[in-house]
Amino acid sequence: MKADEPTVPRILVLASGSGTNFQALIDASRERDFPGQIVALGCNQPKAFVLERAGQANIETFVVDHRNFGSREEFDAALMAHILRYNPDLIVLAGFMRILTTDFVRAFRGKLVNIHPSLLPKYTGLNTHQRVLDAGDRTHGVSIHFVTEELDGGPVIAQAEISVAAGDTSETLAEKVQQKEHLLYPIVVRWFCQGRIQLGQDQVLFDGQVMEAPMRLPES
Ligand code: GAR
Repeated sequence: MKADEPTVPRILVLASGSGTNFQALIDASRERDFPGQIVALGCNQPKAFVLERAGQANIETFVVDHRNFGSREEFDAALMAHILRYNPDLIVLAGFMRILTTDFVRAFRGKLVNIHPSLLPKYTGLNTHQRVLDAGDRTHGVSIHFVTEELDGGPVIAQAEISVAAGDTSETLAEKVQQKEHLLYPIVVRWFCQGRIQLGQDQVLFDGQVMEAPMRLPES
C-alpha cells in the first residue's frame, strides 16, 4: 500500500459450508466504491466449498477444525488467535455453524454480525424452514443482527421477507431466503464499513440514531 492510500475497514468472514453468502460479499467487494476489504476467510470444516471460493478470489484462509479441540473454550481461543492476526474491523458470520462462547462474543462486541434464516425473534436455532412450514406461517425471511451473548438474540439490523406459497418445501424456502440473503448482506456490510451502523447499549444505531425497527427490504 502506498503511504497516501486511505485504509479501508478490514472484513474477516467466518463460514462452515458452501459459502454462497461469502460469494455475494466477494462480488460486492469487487465494485469500485465498496468501502471495505475482505482480508481473510476462517472456516471450521476443512473440506467446505467456501475455502475454494476464497482460493479463487485470492483471499487468505485459515481452518480451525472444531473436532481437534476438547471444549468450546479451547476452540474459540484458537479461533480468536487466528482472527487477531488479521486485526479485523468487522467479523461477518456467513453460515458459521458453531455456537460462540461468551468470551469470544465479548472480545468482538460491536464488530460481529450474523445472518440467520428467519424473521427474528421467531425461530432462533436450527431447521428454521421446516419450523415455518410446520407452524403454517405465511411469511418467512432472513435477519442480520449484531451478535451478543444470547444465541440469535442480538439487535437486528436488517430483514427481508418472503411469502410462503402452498407448495413450498424446506428446500424451496431455503432457496428463496438465500436469494434475499445475497442482496441483504452486502448492503449491511457496506453500511458498517461506512460507519453508518453501530451497536449501541442494546440496540442498533443508524447514523448515530437508535433504529426503532430493523431495516426491511421490500418483498418482491
Ligand atoms: C445461510 O442460509 C445462513 O442463513 C445460514 O446458513 C446458510 C449458509 O449458506 N445460517 C445459519 O443457519 C446460522 N444459524 P452459505 O454457506 O451458502 O452462505
